[in-house]
Amino acid sequence: MEKTHSYQDRRVPLVRRVRDLLDRMTLSEKIGQMTQVENRSIDPVEAARHSIGSVLSGGGGNPTPNTPENWATMVQSYQEAALQTRLGIPLLYGADAVHGHNNVRGAVVFPHNIGLGASREPSLTQRIGRITALEALATGIHWVFAPAVSIPHDIRWGRTFEGFSEDTDLVTRLGVAQLQGLQGVDGTTDLSHPRTVLASVKHFVGDGGTTWGTNNTNEWIIDQGVTEVDETVLRAVHMPPYVAAIKAGARNIMVSLSSWGGLRMHAHRYLLTDVLKGELGFTGFLVSDWEAVDHVDGDYYTAVVTSINAGVDMVMTPYDGQRFIAHLSRAVEEGDVPLSRIDDAVGRILSVKFELGLFEQPFGEPSLLPLVGSAVHRAVAREAVRKSLVLLKNDGAALPLSVQTPLILIAGQAANDVGLQCGGWTIAWQGGSGDITPGTTLLAGIRASVSEDTTVYYHPAGEFDAVEMPRTGATADVGIVVLSEEPYAEGVGDRADLTLTEADLALLDRMRTRCQKLVVILFSGRPLIVTEHLPQWDAFVAGWLPGTEGDGIAEVLFGEYPFSGRLPYTWPRSMDQVPRKQGDDPLFPLGYGLS
Ligand code: BGC
Ligand code: BGC
Repeated sequence: MEKTHSYQDRRVPLVRRVRDLLDRMTLSEKIGQMTQVENRSIDPVEAARHSIGSVLSGGGGNPTPNTPENWATMVQSYQEAALQTRLGIPLLYGADAVHGHNNVRGAVVFPHNIGLGASREPSLTQRIGRITALEALATGIHWVFAPAVSIPHDIRWGRTFEGFSEDTDLVTRLGVAQLQGLQGVDGTTDLSHPRTVLASVKHFVGDGGTTWGTNNTNEWIIDQGVTEVDETVLRAVHMPPYVAAIKAGARNIMVSLSSWGGLRMHAHRYLLTDVLKGELGFTGFLVSDWEAVDHVDGDYYTAVVTSINAGVDMVMTPYDGQRFIAHLSRAVEEGDVPLSRIDDAVGRILSVKFELGLFEQPFGEPSLLPLVGSAVHRAVAREAVRKSLVLLKNDGAALPLSVQTPLILIAGQAANDVGLQCGGWTIAWQGGSGDITPGTTLLAGIRASVSEDTTVYYHPAGEFDAVEMPRTGATADVGIVVLSEEPYAEGVGDRADLTLTEADLALLDRMRTRCQKLVVILFSGRPLIVTEHLPQWDAFVAGWLPGTEGDGIAEVLFGEYPFSGRLPYTWPRSMDQVPRKQGDDPLFPLGYGLS
């Protein structure tokens, strides 16, 4: 399209560009900008035909086959169609790149936030944000639904691992660092730099503070429930990361599926409009969460009117954009949503699109494709893995292990499984097990670390009876058991019981009799209850959900690097201490970690 209007001229001041464009738009073009549909439910032609402002890939919203190149092609096709529309407004494509560009097969996968919380290093978290931005831009994506700045208070919550910590200050520091990595290059925070992406700070507000059993929407239990705290606590515990993120340049915030004060957050005009946009001065745009507007009211028309009037600017209506468009159009025609509210919402969205430089550079940077999952990026992930490990027990200086150890027995499926290392939000929404994406397992890392004279045997179930021990005496010098949770995301991971499984216990028993020193490594999205079993173990390491670079763990086990991580969550002694209460005597306190 020829560039003739002021909105197309980058030298024109931002407010005037927005005004000029708004003045040219029809109501349906405006409502289109407020609509976000998932790629699996709309093709580029349809998206353009309805002037859709944003397309997202939810967890698993991948092209087939899932390669970085196909991602780039897919995103580009939506953008090309958007640019062909009457006003040529570029589309903003978003994805859940929450621990690296994790839907993309071949991308580097970093430890989930819980691991970064253990490392307590903002500069590392910032570098991770930077790399995630580059891998996203390589595939044409300008918007990443991170950082999650939840403050989880009950580790039964299936999203505990998405939160850096239970500690508000730590979450605030790391959340800002991740935001600055995504949105900033070389110390600048100029979103128009071609190598920045828009961050989405989520989920506003109190998503981590819900009470067990208060989800009344679906079969989940605590996720999307009710945050039963008063406003003082809401402000003191759950709001500080948003205040800091806005100061640091946050331009998009995702609204929480939870409720507070008798209202769904998406219906909360006081918190969204009075507090966030008024008092806290947030001038960016608010995006709804997945189908969240539907939950506001049984009657969809009422739900739309209530949410938009409460202050939601863009609606993630993953499956059916037209239904939302039809209802919002009617609401404007009937005067239930004032045109001024539409102009405010669209003005905010367009402003961020201009700020991002989308009109000038709508396509991202396909030239970065060779960097996706590159060795340089994986080296940073490996560093993050090393720094995220928390050593919780180390009797008789069991660790570090000598690379000369004659015989090591390794057991547990998780020792040799990239999928289990990565957890949820990896390739698929719920994650998966096995070789879901290229990476290095812990087993491979151990094999690469030991001396030529070391014998390493691996059996997932620890059945070594058939193994011929190279020496007399039936025990190995070292046994390593790697336990893990099954991958999960969101409320699918809500769990009443966080104790080890029968299979885990049987495996531990079997291994205990076969080795002199028993080292247990746990991959999990939260602390699990280990109190009764811990006395049997010589060393215990919390590995969280480390991602694709499992060899980082081996580097620390064999003493190339020290243990330095500290607990981002209190480690309870029993389920009676979940959720944690004042006066509990936990197994390990917040901040604990041996070196
Ligand atoms: C989650 C968000 C996510 C969105 C898009 C929602 O269900 O709560 O965290 O960004 O889906 O996948
Ligand atoms: C999507 C996720 C989304 C979830 C919400 C899934 O199908 O892939 O991104 O968060 O649904 O229910």
